[in-house]
Amino acid sequence: MGLDSAGNPKFSITTPLYYVNDLPHIGSAYTTIAADVIARFQRLKGVPVLMITGTDEHGQKIQRTAEARQKSPQAHCDEIVVGFKSLWQQLNITYDRFSRTTAPRHQAIVTEFFQRVWAQGDIYEGHQQGWYCVACEEFKEERDLLPEHRCPIHTNKAVEWRDEQNYFFRLSKYQPQLEKFYADQPDFIQPPSRRNEVLSFVGQGLQDFSISRVNLDWGFPMPTNPQHTLYVWFDALLGYVTALLEPDDEPTLDNALQRWWPIQTHLIGKDILRFHAVYWPAMLMSAGLPLPGRVFGHGFLTKDGQKMGKSLGNTLDPVDLAERYGADAVRYYFLKEIEFGKDGDFSETRFIHVLNADLANDLGNLLNRTLKMAGRYCQGQVPDVTEAQIPADYDLKSKGKYLAATVAAAYEALAFSQACDAILGLIRSGNKFLDEKAPWSLYKQGQQVETERVLYAVLESVRLAAYLLSPVVPGLAQAIYQQLGLTADFNDRAIGQTLAYSTHSCWGYLPARQPLGKAEPIFQRIELASE
Ligand code: MSP
Repeated sequence: MGLDSAGNPKFSITTPLYYVNDLPHIGSAYTTIAADVIARFQRLKGVPVLMITGTDEHGQKIQRTAEARQKSPQAHCDEIVVGFKSLWQQLNITYDRFSRTTAPRHQAIVTEFFQRVWAQGDIYEGHQQGWYCVACEEFKEERDLLPEHRCPIHTNKAVEWRDEQNYFFRLSKYQPQLEKFYADQPDFIQPPSRRNEVLSFVGQGLQDFSISRVNLDWGFPMPTNPQHTLYVWFDALLGYVTALLEPDDEPTLDNALQRWWPIQTHLIGKDILRFHAVYWPAMLMSAGLPLPGRVFGHGFLTKDGQKMGKSLGNTLDPVDLAERYGADAVRYYFLKEIEFGKDGDFSETRFIHVLNADLANDLGNLLNRTLKMAGRYCQGQVPDVTEAQIPADYDLKSKGKYLAATVAAAYEALAFSQACDAILGLIRSGNKFLDEKAPWSLYKQGQQVETERVLYAVLESVRLAAYLLSPVVPGLAQAIYQQLGLTADFNDRAIGQTLAYSTHSCWGYLPARQPLGKAEPIFQRIELASE
């Protein structure tokens, strides 16, 4: 967590800036959903948030894609960007800034940053020879290549031999400083497996890397030698900084860094860890800037146990998934089902099973049947009970009291599946409790007080679950609050003020005798195609 100048907390988070060689794939959707969940959780707590996403539009890969489509690179990028923005809307992503690396003000930031690094003497001319993967936009070590010089990540693509004059960044100079930094900030790289990976990479000795290209037009000219084009990664990482400018700011580093720097969390996939955890901090050290709070590298998604790829014909289209099942379903599945940081799988059968079990049955049915009982036994109002009147031996109450602390710790640690499990745990207890207490029998026996207590305890548990789950499934949380007769807008950036965390995260908030809304299924059961 960062602090503003008055010592109040603030929070900034980034997704990678995605290549626009194609429409967004499920991997981009996965990171962006995760970032949105953290951003929403921080807003829920009332912390000012800046969430950054965007697109990485320069370099050979984009230039070639545009050529193949017979478009100008800029026209190509403009088209693909529409696809990204529309998917983010479809998935209910509440980003604050969309950083495009072709923006003119980005060039001003890159130029100024470059000059700082140049002034440090950290850029020199040299000779670059090696195998280059255009899809990764990265040189590869010969020992890491697959047979026929194929890239280990883009396994169907051959790397290309390069032999040219380039400018280099003196990464090797920063090795001791980086090692000290990793030791002083043990949480900088997460999860620990990724940290170990980086420590061992750095421990082998860092080599300078080239930050300019010849024979490439699509990028910014190098400020000190315009015959060269700046390497796409040098430009792209700075897209995070450009994004910090207010709309009316002059594009200077000082302006960009004033309010939100340093960024607290960079969320990325494991394949771009080195860029973020090694190159980026070294570049920042060279420019004399403070370093980001943490880099979290999540795992890779597979489909039905297989690596996904266009050539394999088994990609998972996030647009199609969101159209068929809705934002909440997609968001919930990936965060609940996959331990963040580890690789995970998507199978449609599993997807449908998880959603039906958790959202339609456990959560949806519990609310639905309890609301109907409250309609019959309590005149359609929240039972006339206060939290203090609920007996201490109701386990819903004791579990509900601790839930927010557990869930908040899980969100802070980006342990999304743990957060969801803890919340669903309360819901499952709610179902059990309802079956055991059987308020329908209590009511028939004339035990009105006990009936109302039971129904209150369940409704309040569903409310609390909805509130704490709202970063993951904002649409569902909204529907639950509405049916409980509460006014809420879970997409409001100022939610921390409108639904104060200090009251809404506590079990017992639900106001007695409040008119309840109409009971309607909040999540329609999905039928398996074969059923
Ligand atoms: N443009 C760079 C990032 C620059 S950031 C300054 C880039 N873009 S990308 O579009 O290729 O990758 C975006 C993200 O998608 C990466 O974090 C990558 O890890 C992630 N994924 C790509 N395939 C994935 C899966 N199959 N599963 C999960 N994430 C995956 O890299």
